[in-house]
Amino acid sequence: MKRIVIFASGSGSNAENIISFFREKPQAEVVAVLTNKNSAKVLERCDRLDIPAFYFNKPAFKDSNAVVQMLQGLQTDLIVLAGFLWKIPSNLIEAFPDKIINIHPALLPKYGGKGMYGDRVHQAVKENNETETGITIHYVNENYDEGAIIFQAKTSVVPSDEATSIAEKVHQLEYEHFPKVIEKLLS
Ligand code: GAR
Repeated sequence: MKRIVIFASGSGSNAENIISFFREKPQAEVVAVLTNKNSAKVLERCDRLDIPAFYFNKPAFKDSNAVVQMLQGLQTDLIVLAGFLWKIPSNLIEAFPDKIINIHPALLPKYGGKGMYGDRVHQAVKENNETETGITIHYVNENYDEGAIIFQAKTSVVPSDEATSIAEKVHQLEYEHFPKVIEKLLS
């Protein structure tokens, strides 16, 4: 059984979707959720779903080996960033080569980089009158949103869309594809 650890900073709707998906599958399970925000809604979801959740602060993440040691202790096979907003430090990347993936709510390389997350991305897509947007699942390297792309899916954007409706369309793509892409990577 492969062991997945999810990192999330916010609501955690993707985390919940992935946890539920793998409850029905024999080949992998989500063993823990890690967060950098002790008020994140994802923690309520973990309580309800009976999934261990751990909080770390910035010094523990950036300036120590504590998170790497925790992940090794959990015998982690794959780290999944699902709405996680901090840059991943090099000690973590080196400890888990090609074992860290992220989902970004746009078609990278467009609308990526520092400060481009969540609704800011959808607002920018709207302001630039894009006719399509989507999701990108990619390996994580030391730069924001720059690792090798694993998977993309598109959805259309129409003039009547607002950032909120674009976000809904993108979330639907995330819920549909992210667990399946993880499943494939682990098979
Ligand atoms: C998701 O749309 C994810 O793609 C995005 O944050 C949202 C988290 O939603 N990630 C980024 O913007 C990373 N740059 P959730 O907490 O409900 O899963």
